[in-house]
Amino acid sequence: MARVTYVQPDGSEKTCTNFEGMAVMHLAIGNLVDGIDALCGGVRQCGTCHVYVDDAWIERVGPPGEDEAIMLDALSDAIAVTAGSRLSCQIHITEELDGLRVHIPKEQPGV
Ligand code: FES
Repeated sequence: MARVTYVQPDGSEKTCTNFEGMAVMHLAIGNLVDGIDALCGGVRQCGTCHVYVDDAWIERVGPPGEDEAIMLDALSDAIAVTAGSRLSCQIHITEELDGLRVHIPKEQPGV
């Protein structure tokens, strides 16, 4: 099992626990974390699951995949894309990510 802490748009934190393999987005939706809309259901088509991986975790989480990077680039006119930007539907929880911390932006693209 692994824990993920979400810093919600209002600054409050919610820590959720789940088993390996689940996407950070799905864990958030299942636990009513605020600010992740995930309108496309996790197929990299909406960007409304955007999060900023905490600086301390960027290296361990790793960079976005090719398709995810293309989507983030396409969104960069609408949202602030940084080195920590990831689509949370594309981050899959592993034991190595136990304790992961992500920050949810105040606004998601197009929402
Ligand atoms: Fe739509 Fe992640 S849920 S891009």
